[in-house]
Amino acid sequence: MSVSQFPDGFLWGGALAANQAEGAYLEGGKGLTTVDMIPHGSHRMAVKLGLEPRFTLRDDEFYPSHDAIDFYHRYKEDIALMAEMGFTVFRTSIAWSRIYPQGDELTPNAEGIAFYRDVFNECKKYGIEPLVTLCHFDVPMHLVREHGSWRNRKMIEFFTRYARTCFEAFDGLVKYWLTFNEINILLHSPFSGAGLVFDEQDNKEQVKYQAAHHELVASALATKIAHEVNPANQVGCMLAGGNFYPWSCKPEDVWAALEKDRENLFFIDVQARGAYPSYAARLFREKGISIVSEPGDSEILKNTVDFVSFSYYASRCASADMNEGNSSAANVVKSLKNPYIQASEWGWGIDPLGLRITMNMMYDRYQKPLFLVENGLGAKDTVNDQGEIEDDYRISYLREHIKAMGEAIADGIPVMGYTTWGCIDLVSASTGEMSKRYGFVYVDRDDSGAGTLARTRKKSFYWYTKVISSNGADLD
Ligand code: BG6
Repeated sequence: MSVSQFPDGFLWGGALAANQAEGAYLEGGKGLTTVDMIPHGSHRMAVKLGLEPRFTLRDDEFYPSHDAIDFYHRYKEDIALMAEMGFTVFRTSIAWSRIYPQGDELTPNAEGIAFYRDVFNECKKYGIEPLVTLCHFDVPMHLVREHGSWRNRKMIEFFTRYARTCFEAFDGLVKYWLTFNEINILLHSPFSGAGLVFDEQDNKEQVKYQAAHHELVASALATKIAHEVNPANQVGCMLAGGNFYPWSCKPEDVWAALEKDRENLFFIDVQARGAYPSYAARLFREKGISIVSEPGDSEILKNTVDFVSFSYYASRCASADMNEGNSSAANVVKSLKNPYIQASEWGWGIDPLGLRITMNMMYDRYQKPLFLVENGLGAKDTVNDQGEIEDDYRISYLREHIKAMGEAIADGIPVMGYTTWGCIDLVSASTGEMSKRYGFVYVDRDDSGAGTLARTRKKSFYWYTKVISSNGADLD
């Protein structure tokens, strides 16, 4: 066993999100959210992109979020499994529509608050620190129908009311908060990312960046409120991370990679540095975008986050002549296929050194503590005749990424913690499949929704337990 590169108190755990785990989509007073409208199957992508508006559910389609893995009823069993692995942090999200079912009410739903109090108390029972995302791909549908979701400035008021309710209701139980999950995904998957649907005549870029402005102002205000409610609260932004490599050292390819990185980092530049980056003016001019803002917005944006969180699955690659034909979307961000790295069954590149590169770039740029809140391998698992799941491929992926994160810490980067994605198998955000599994715990459910939902520990469960108890020193 080698010496741990991880500081004392480093938070180890895993992550789920309400929309992919809870199910119980209409229980406890919950309202419909965007993700509840996204079907499994051939229409999924068009709905996620906001190109096929879905305001009502159809009888002939299957919606994986409706039952998901039933965390809503099984959270005690699931949190006990996390505790058994030794988790010191558990990342989950609050479903906005459990707290405000329509989104624009003045009074919250007491049943929703009670549910999350129970979840967070259960974590506390085991000494697990909750890390809570306020909005993880689930805008209340009423806000989409009635207000046009984030294209409307009124969303700032609705979101900050919701955020304040959460900070006050869960004060003393939760101190680590994230405002928007993978905020940059708004550009790439506008309906699932931000509840945006488009008309033919829309200038999509205008709509997306205006929505982004509203989210950025709302995020800064929420950060301010969190600090007012309790100065011990720590708030982070959240990026769908992974640097773009230039396809070659041709200057045009290097420039293309830089522009692609900026497209994603634009959000974090505002949230971590407190103002629009200098390159934004030209970007907006060239895309024909004119942001409508109010006096005072730039003051509000100065409420920067305390830390920068991000997901990392894969690095990306760009060239000057990248186009629809030669690129594909891993985690919805389009990339060229990098010939130097292997890929998962779903074509997501496997690049642990890319994680170290991404972390170094982010710390150089922001000088704020980092928190890696999603990382993992989506893979098909098989249950053998003994009822066991031997997921060595997952162990190997995680081992190499934890090593890379250790190297980044040795490079001098303060890192608060690590939560692997989908620590218990859950519904895939991109495909809606259950068979794209990330967990240490297998859930008996298939892509059509059949199965007992029983939980089984995988081989990786025991491996991660050792990793945590040795503070990252024992990765064998
Ligand atoms: C991130 C999201 O994009 O990646 C998660 O925050 C998502 O919600 C995860 O599940 C993995 O993606 P997928 O498509 O494999 O579920």
